Amino acid sequence: MSAPVRIHMDVDPGHDDALALFLAAGHPAVEVVSVSAVAGNQSLAKTAANALRVARFAGLRVPVAAGMDRPLVREAVHAPEIHGESGLDGPALPDPEPGLGLDPRHGVDLLTEAFSRPGEVTLVATGPLTNVAMALLRDPSLVQRIPRIVLMGGSVGLGNVTPAAEFNIFFDAEAARIVFRSGIPIVMMGLDVTHQALATPEAVEALRAAGRVGRVAAELLDFFGASYQRVFGFPAPPVHDACTVAYLIEPSLFTLRPMAVEVECLGPLTYGRTVCDVHGVTGRPPNAEVAMQLDAPAFWRLMVEAIARLG
Ligand code: BDR
Ligand code: CA
Repeated sequence: MSAPVRIHMDVDPGHDDALALFLAAGHPAVEVVSVSAVAGNQSLAKTAANALRVARFAGLRVPVAAGMDRPLVREAVHAPEIHGESGLDGPALPDPEPGLGLDPRHGVDLLTEAFSRPGEVTLVATGPLTNVAMALLRDPSLVQRIPRIVLMGGSVGLGNVTPAAEFNIFFDAEAARIVFRSGIPIVMMGLDVTHQALATPEAVEALRAAGRVGRVAAELLDFFGASYQRVFGFPAPPVHDACTVAYLIEPSLFTLRPMAVEVECLGPLTYGRTVCDVHGVTGRPPNAEVAMQLDAPAFWRLMVEAIARLG
């Protein structure tokens, strides 16, 4: 078997961020080297505490640090209607063991340090892109050392937080613009594909039967599913963020299309929209591989197998 893909995860847990962390912890094809939390689904204090609890519950003993507590320019608008007041409502995760608390470093420093040597680590981002943009602003040479960013954000089609925009990009569009214009190769898991990663009742029950972590994953999806039913009328919740890690484990699950993607930062109705040049009409070179199709049954087999390995 080839060496695992080493990843730094930048997250805002978040139910689907938790599923992404569980998948990464459980699958031998990836190795998490460090985790930074960012404000997004909830305040930084909450997302950092959640990231730490989720990582430790999944057996990850790597550094977890708190990063940026607000977007670069705008005020924060969190998502309690989807993820609850804690940002991770539903099952109670245990407190981390003594000595395994948050790393004292700033999350942006931890992220930067993960890329001290070129090409060794892949960046996975499943929250707003504030930490990533701040790292690039502080140290522009990072562009040469981050070989690839696999991110959850944006949409070729409709948005979810506004008709035009997806939550992670809308939360900090100025940061997203910096990242999409950075020149770093980007794989974009937008709503077009993440809405195919639906946790059907069969998938949730398979997780519930898959051990200690699987049971908690299912309980998270019970809460998340009720939110998606109430807010969007979805029959089953999409586990957006887990698509990033699944792609690194098994790229053939996804169909990607190269595109030029720009982030709208001005329009009062369109702030945070990822403007995706599907037909190449702008003549701009592609800056992202955008995922369009998912093999959902194979995705869920991967999820359940990986999470079952965590016991
Ligand atoms: C994204 O927003 C958050 O609510 C989820 O964690 C995911 O990263 C989906 O739009
Ligand atoms: Ca997220």
